[in-house]
Amino acid sequence: MTHFIDIHNHTTEWLKGVLDTAHALRDERRDRGRNEPKLAGRTLAMFFEKPSLRTRVSFEQAMYELGGHAIVLDNREVGLGTRESIADVIRVMNGMAHAVMARVFEHRKLTEMAEHATIPVINALSDTSHPCQALADIMTMQDEFGRDLTGRTLAFIGDGNNVARSLARLCAKLGMRFTLATPAGYCLPEDELKEIAQENGGAEIEVSDDPFDAVADADAVYTDTFVSMGQEDEKAKRLEVFAEYQVNEQLMARAPKHAIVLHCLPAYRGVEITDAVMDGPQSRVFPQAHNRLHAQKGVLATLLT
Ligand code: CP
Ligand code: NVA
Repeated sequence: MTHFIDIHNHTTEWLKGVLDTAHALRDERRDRGRNEPKLAGRTLAMFFEKPSLRTRVSFEQAMYELGGHAIVLDNREVGLGTRESIADVIRVMNGMAHAVMARVFEHRKLTEMAEHATIPVINALSDTSHPCQALADIMTMQDEFGRDLTGRTLAFIGDGNNVARSLARLCAKLGMRFTLATPAGYCLPEDELKEIAQENGGAEIEVSDDPFDAVADADAVYTDTFVSMGQEDEKAKRLEVFAEYQVNEQLMARAPKHAIVLHCLPAYRGVEITDAVMDGPQSRVFPQAHNRLHAQKGVLATLLT
């Protein structure tokens, strides 16, 4: 039994296998109009402490299209760790569902779930990481540049946040270069970046505070909100600090012409990304969002079959 909580818990081979399964299930759906019901009789329980559009719909639709079932639980009714302990919630799920996914504030809630789970636990975003998103992002780069992304560069501009962390880790696992441009004080921790590089045979990770440098060799230019869920109190300060980190036409003029633009969404248009870039010819933002469905199928089929 395997969980999917963080990229670094898995081998490159396992992660590539999930991506291959995602592509295969997308092809099957396109060619035959539907998927084989591989997950018939299987139920996914979905817990949300934070809002979601893509993650919620992609997981529920993925279960439906694979012949399974999903139950969406709003945390106002469940009260993870408040109405009932996390351990007891999972002990109950162990006997009723076949997998659990959860979107939480504190990452430790996911590891606590895993400690008590006899069924797979999937990270649907925590304050620390968003591994399901990273799989869909890499799938979108594979659509553009081919399945082998060795040596390709993903440039992440903005906040060294949960999305950036999972991408840094997945890029390193796949032999890709990761460049990160953040204002001082908002980078991923230096020792963690060193550890990622060491664990992955000296993977290339470059950090700077200059977005123009970071995109110079990029195959994909990526940004995310400057104010993640749970950071609303810091909004005014963050908007000021990140003002020079917008992905706009001037920045894209510095990137190679073939570079694509990615954003995990939701986007705050006119803040971290302009309309011109998001709706422009280099944007792959909506195919990327659609790939969440296929990537989720890759994860679910791998963990549940
Ligand atoms: N990208 C992403 O996870 O979107 P949602 O927050 O809408 O699920
Ligand atoms: N970094 C963002 C990602 C949203 C999908 C957040 O955590 O709110």
